[in-house]
Amino acid sequence: MRVAADVTATENRSRSQTAGTMHGGFFVQLPVPLPSTLYGTKAMDSIYEISHDISGIDWWRLADVMARAPLFERKPFELATAFRNSHAVVFAHHEGNIVGAARAVSDGVYYATIYDVVVAPEHQGCSVGRQMVSALLAKLPVERVFLTSVFGKEGFYERFGFLRQTNAMGRYVEPARGQAIASGVLTAAHTASSLGATKTPN
Ligand SMILES: CC(C)(COP(=O)(O)OP(=O)(O)OC[C@H]1O[C@@H](n2cnc3c(N)ncnc32)[C@H](O)[C@@H]1OP(=O)(O)O)[C@@H](O)C(=O)NCCC(=O)NCCS
Repeated sequence: MRVAADVTATENRSRSQTAGTMHGGFFVQLPVPLPSTLYGTKAMDSIYEISHDISGIDWWRLADVMARAPLFERKPFELATAFRNSHAVVFAHHEGNIVGAARAVSDGVYYATIYDVVVAPEHQGCSVGRQMVSALLAKLPVERVFLTSVFGKEGFYERFGFLRQTNAMGRYVEPARGQAIASGVLTAAHTASSLGATKTPN
């Protein structure tokens, strides 16, 4: 895992200052939903419909968006499974067509990890990514949010308070493991005991 990111405790504290309850003589802060936008809105925002509704998604079109972005070559039926099994999802539509998506898995309390943040190339740079990540974070009132960034996209996530995480590790299966080592996303193992962990976990 090249980069994992963390919404800082400081930022979480500032968002949670007004919500809490007394428990055993202590004031316990309760997670509160994040605001729908974490920074600014722009004139063109209204051009896009940002939705959490998974029904009616054209998975073939989303797979095409993902391939062209480019992000991943994904099979439409596998994409549908991945999004349906996620804790929170967000989609962007333009004139009725899907032009972006993002999703997160989470335990709903402590941790969440964001995946598959993607905008169609012809709509990149139009604040679609910002609106989707803001809407997704609003669904993740947890202590820590992680993600791995495509190289060169870190600055996009820094705008939401994400910081680089130095202790992140990733266990990929082949061929993803070899590809990630070759591209510098993963660094080669330092210990002999970790060299064998290349098969699909049971
Ligand atoms: C990365 C991606 C999701 C960003 O979405 P987007 O709609 O193009 O970005 P936005 O227009 O919402 O940009 C929001 C802000 O982030 C900035 N930004 C966008 N990409 C950036 C980058 N690579 N580095 C630094 N800042 C960036 C924008 O300048 C804008 O700044 P502003 O609010 O000060 O004006 C999109 O470009 C994309 O899908 N790329 C291809 C797939 C990909 O790499 N996904 C990321 C997987 S980790």
